[in-house]
Amino acid sequence: MNDRGKIVAGLIIFLVLITTPIWMNLVAEGDAEGPEIEILTKDVPGQDKCVKSKTEMAAQHMDLLNTWRDEVVRSKARVYQTADGRYYAKSLTHTCLKCHSNKDKFCDRCHIYVGVNPYCWDCHNEPKEFK
Ligand code: HEC
Ligand code: HEC
Ligand code: HEC
Repeated sequence: MNDRGKIVAGLIIFLVLITTPIWMNLVAEGDAEGPEIEILTKDVPGQDKCVKSKTEMAAQHMDLLNTWRDEVVRSKARVYQTADGRYYAKSLTHTCLKCHSNKDKFCDRCHIYVGVNPYCWDCHNEPKEFK
């Protein structure tokens, strides 16, 4: 009887130990993975949403920027309408970076983390962009 109890207890301990990584993962789920980025636009009225959903932006912002540039430069189409009917200028500096004004703790932090280095700022930081 006594032995049986010990075996069961031992089995339970064994099971808990061997599944520890799974529990740890479940507990850490929310804040695991990824760089720490800061989104500072939330206090600005009407600026609590990106031009697309967060997941779409995380996955597609590079393509969106390319599309915007092409449309502006080739077709002079400068206005973007969001799915929910808001309008924005198709502009890296005057739209993206106006909202995400903390480039260093947002764009940069994420890009350093994933190891990309967009060359856009060679030109787009120059004063002529703010004419
Ligand atoms: C009107 C303000 C505003 C504009 C303009 C804007 N953003 Fe955002 N952006 C936000 C907010 C607010 C969030 C967070 C959305 C959320 O939490 O649902 C966000 C989220 C994102 C994310 C996802 C971050 C993450 O946590 O995965 C990326 C990437 C991003 N924006 C890039 C851009 C780029 C590039 C542009 C220009 C094409 C842009 N944003 C324009 C306000 C803005
Ligand atoms: C949540 C993380 C994250 C945030 C925040 C973020 N980016 Fe990115 N960005 C990425 C990733 C990942 C790539 C690389 C995608 C690939 O290589 O397919 C990328 C690529 C890019 C590229 C293309 C670069 C290249 O060489 O192909 C541009 C342009 C860009 N991001 C602009 C921005 C701007 C502007 C902001 C801030 C307004 C921003 N990103 C914020 C994750 C992020
Ligand atoms: C060699 C200089 C140069 C580089 C590098 C560059 N751009 Fe541009 N970009 C320009 C010029 C010039 C325009 C035209 C400005 C206008 O007509 O308003 C422009 C326009 C744009 C526009 C539309 C207008 C605006 O105000 O933003 C977008 C979006 C854009 N570029 C995104 C990018 C992105 C994203 C990158 C990096 C992947 C990039 N550019 C790199 C020079 C450059």
